[in-house]
Amino acid sequence: MASIEKYETSADVAAEAARSAITVLKQAIDTFGEARWVLAGGSSPMAAYKIIVADYADALDWSKVVAVIGDERAVGVESPDSNWGQVTPLLFGTPTTGAVRGLRPVTEQGAEIAATRYNAEIGALVGPGETAPRFDLVWLGVGEDGHTLSLFPGHPEFNEADEDLVVPIHNSPKPPSDRITLTTKSLTNTGNAVIFATGAGKKDALALALGEKTLPIARVSSVLESGGAEVRWLFDAAAAS
Ligand code: 6PG
Repeated sequence: MASIEKYETSADVAAEAARSAITVLKQAIDTFGEARWVLAGGSSPMAAYKIIVADYADALDWSKVVAVIGDERAVGVESPDSNWGQVTPLLFGTPTTGAVRGLRPVTEQGAEIAATRYNAEIGALVGPGETAPRFDLVWLGVGEDGHTLSLFPGHPEFNEADEDLVVPIHNSPKPPSDRITLTTKSLTNTGNAVIFATGAGKKDALALALGEKTLPIARVSSVLESGGAEVRWLFDAAAAS
């Protein structure tokens, strides 16, 4: 199921994403003994990570959280282009949140090797009888062209028939050009997803995404829904049409 929710500002969206993440992760820990969270890069999720650190660092047993990054650029972790390098020191840089188990993709040797290795690591989360890992919470950003993760519109590497959970991306229309990304297949066993639909620059892509459903963010949302996920599109006023 998908819901469209409208908030006034991007800060309101970040506050709701942070609040609800804690609820979902807690529930997953109660149910499964551990919560698995797919993180997103980008400025909109970043505001939500800051709220989690400021307001909820003591709200969870973070040692029971497994963090996965949804997509990564083929750069070293010290690079400003590294999603992992940007997100995790902030989010997991406190004494409590630092207990998280993070699965960092090793991207220093290029996209191909990184994707092969990360595909195996994510594959190890797939339980008996499952075809994709159980993810309890997936956070997704949206680009101005309607991309999400590193799945770009019209890009040959965006292939819903993909058998892998993680694939390399080359010639990304947005730099850096070499990346890795979770595939749609990897998201088919997800409980909850939050889409950060914020900023005036996203307005056209989001209107299109809610209409004809060909853009990656729309297709990813459909895949999540088909797998049984509750998908929440959190709009701010600037992005809502
Ligand atoms: C990328 C982008 C992308 C990002 C969106 C939204 O290179 O693929 O960084 O992943 O999440 O463009 O970014 P904002 O949240 O900053 O608007």
